[in-house]
Amino acid sequence: MQQKITQYTSEITNFQSKNAEELESFRIRFLGTKGIIKDLFEAFKTVSAEEKRVLGKVLNEFKQMAEAKYQALKESLESVEKSENSELDLTLPGEGFELGARHPLSLVRKEIIEIFKKLGFNVAEGPEIEDDWHNFSALNFPEEHPARDMQDTFFIKKGGEKGDIALRTHTSSVQVRMMEAGKPPFRAIMPGRVYRNEAISARAHCFFHQVEGLYIDENVSFADLKQTLFHFVQELFGEGTKVRFRPSYFPFTEPSAEMDISCSICKGVGCQFCKYSGWVEILGCGMVDPNVLENCNIDSKKFTGYAFGMGIERITNLKYQIKDLRLFSENDIRFLKQFQSEMI
Ligand code: DAH
Repeated sequence: MQQKITQYTSEITNFQSKNAEELESFRIRFLGTKGIIKDLFEAFKTVSAEEKRVLGKVLNEFKQMAEAKYQALKESLESVEKSENSELDLTLPGEGFELGARHPLSLVRKEIIEIFKKLGFNVAEGPEIEDDWHNFSALNFPEEHPARDMQDTFFIKKGGEKGDIALRTHTSSVQVRMMEAGKPPFRAIMPGRVYRNEAISARAHCFFHQVEGLYIDENVSFADLKQTLFHFVQELFGEGTKVRFRPSYFPFTEPSAEMDISCSICKGVGCQFCKYSGWVEILGCGMVDPNVLENCNIDSKKFTGYAFGMGIERITNLKYQIKDLRLFSENDIRFLKQFQSEMI
């Protein structure tokens, strides 16, 4: 028995449990009701009284040693479990996943694009750095004509082969690029950023965004233009929004007009935004001047067309009642967070 105890003692000393199952089988093997220690105590009953004196102590010490080992392993296993749990508590609520919000100008641009796409318009883009030809000359702005002063231009380079290089002052330059590059019919809208040398204030900015529209085909009339824009306004601002066209002047259209809509803020009653007129101007438009068509190698006897250009900021102001243009470019998270957080 003495020998067995020595053997078991070294087995217990060397024992290491990796998990609760291993520890449990250790407990059953040594400390269980049918375990080794129980058996040893049974056997102890049968030994001589003399042997009992020596063995009794050895056996008790062995039992205590086995129990202590079990207790120590159990505690270390529990503390490992605890520390693991404190790092990863699966019962805690998940961490919030915040979606960014779409910029209001992007939301409105998307809406505008979608309405025109349904009418069969393509979407095109052009460069923000333009030459004089595409931004002015091809669009029938005569050289040294005061019409060029309508738009305060940021010039990058004066003179040169292609004339002045500048930041485009309007998206009408993309019309020219489109007509030069293809053959009619054209039916497209051209969204983009434009630049003007203006002091920044609540009502003006040195850059803003426009959407240009162009439709060139045989027999396109001013009635087509009116109908298209009327439909556009009903879609964007809601059924019942009124429109009116006022004669205007642009070098690249003849006749030219500006289009007003009934003020979407006061519904035409009169408010600060519409300067108590009940109307707000949202775009310029007209029939493409034959000179512009000829500049782009399009037969102006065969083809006619209309064009229009609107400012996205202005429309966004109306839709969301934003009074200060600067908010669009200041990246103030408190402002931006208020818009739709949709992943599109
Ligand atoms: N380009 C003009 C502007 O920036 C807007 C405009 C007016 C565009 C009439 C057009 C148009 O295409 O036909 O103010």
